[in-house]
Amino acid sequence: MSAPACVRSLIQDCGLPRLEARMLLEHVLQRPRAWLLAHDTDALADTVVAQFGALVRRRQAGEPMAYLVGHREFMGHRFAVRPGVLIPRPDTELLVETALAHIRTHGESGRSCHVLDMGCGSGAIAISLALAGGMHARVTALDISTAALAIATENAATLGADVRFLASDWFAGLPEHETFDLIVSNPPYIAQDDPHLGEGDLRFEPRRALTDGADGLADIGRLARGAPARLNAGGALWIEHGWTQAQAVRECLRRAGFTRVASLHDLAGIERISGGYL
Ligand SMILES: C[S@@+](CC[C@H](N)C(=O)[O-])C[C@H]1O[C@@H](n2cnc3c(N)ncnc32)[C@H](O)[C@@H]1O
Repeated sequence: MSAPACVRSLIQDCGLPRLEARMLLEHVLQRPRAWLLAHDTDALADTVVAQFGALVRRRQAGEPMAYLVGHREFMGHRFAVRPGVLIPRPDTELLVETALAHIRTHGESGRSCHVLDMGCGSGAIAISLALAGGMHARVTALDISTAALAIATENAATLGADVRFLASDWFAGLPEHETFDLIVSNPPYIAQDDPHLGEGDLRFEPRRALTDGADGLADIGRLARGAPARLNAGGALWIEHGWTQAQAVRECLRRAGFTRVASLHDLAGIERISGGYL
């Protein structure tokens, strides 16, 4: 008779990288790493072994870890994620940091900054801004996806963030005449024929979150053209984009009437976001 399965044997024998195996087991057991270490050789219940085995098979079929464990860290907060919503990426923290700098500068005038996050997904950007911006930020977030809005609303409640969520096809569903001091967006910017859409985590994420169904610049163009009518004087628009798109996005922004147009590099040295001011 073989020895009963324990934490150590499951992690060692499942065929996944150690870190992934440990995260899946923490999720099944709903116990932290310290517990796993302290109960390394305790026999585990058959139900635990079965649940772990099912998750391992899904991971081996390529499902993203974040969907399997149901969450992903972003800006130091834990965001719930499920299929139907984009998994927040560390790259996007540059957009949040840049927006926070704008909110702080705006706050020096003594007024709170009215912020709009377009295409909020899990709410990662909007909620991080509301939490870090505090009383200096009034945050609205919109998305066309009801699944995304449901998760974003849930995340805001769990994290205690005051964000107003709207269902809207870009600017179409915004209240008439409402204007903002800052608009941010991480829109779908992958071209529809990009082979990366068929690789890795992207295969499992919602297509409408990834591609604009065109050349990757269609939604970015819509945002750039629509933003001036929704921004107060001195307001800013900052957009995340792909690593080859910075020059094209800067041109879009200039054509739309923005000044002081610039791109900022992420930690990998890639031009990751571009923005401008009215
Ligand atoms: C790249 S994801 C970004 C999600 C989130 N902001 C983040 O950074 O993790 C783009 C988001 O834009 C939304 N979106 C796509 N088309 C839209 C449209 N026409 N109007 C509003 N939102 C849209 C998608 O549903 C998706 O949530």
